[in-house]
Amino acid sequence: MQYQSDSHNYCPSSVHSLTTAVDPLERVVRLASGSAVVIFSISTCCMCHAVKSLFCGMGVNPTVYELDQDPRGKEIERVLTRLLGGGSAVPVVFIGGRLVGAMDRVMASHINGTLVPLLKEAGALWL
Ligand SMILES: *[C@@H]1O[C@H](CO)[C@@H](O)[C@H](O)[C@H]1NC(C)=O
Repeated sequence: MQYQSDSHNYCPSSVHSLTTAVDPLERVVRLASGSAVVIFSISTCCMCHAVKSLFCGMGVNPTVYELDQDPRGKEIERVLTRLLGGGSAVPVVFIGGRLVGAMDRVMASHINGTLVPLLKEAGALWL
């Protein structure tokens, strides 16, 4: 396919970087802000199942990325570990594009009452 050289309202390079962002951090940021609740998970991880159940039980339908089923999952996992300051990476939860953290942070937010307002603010929960 050829682009007209005099066309200025179409930018092939920006479209290209949307689908194949080279920088893994940029890819994570884009995925994480793609919907109200995003969970980076590993399909065999118990805590990942637990956090998905927690959100589903609240009536929230999270977007889940199973890193063990993504060819670039390892890269993403490294970025997540760095964002969390080390330790085990999954599950990693983003709400409204903002990093909440792993299961412990999600549970702590649930218990101290900040999780539901966060979900409402992100548009993941209405009631
Ligand atoms: C609630 O818990 C979360 C997660 O640990 C924390 O970030 C937040 O500051 C806490 N908020 C309050 C009001 O205690």
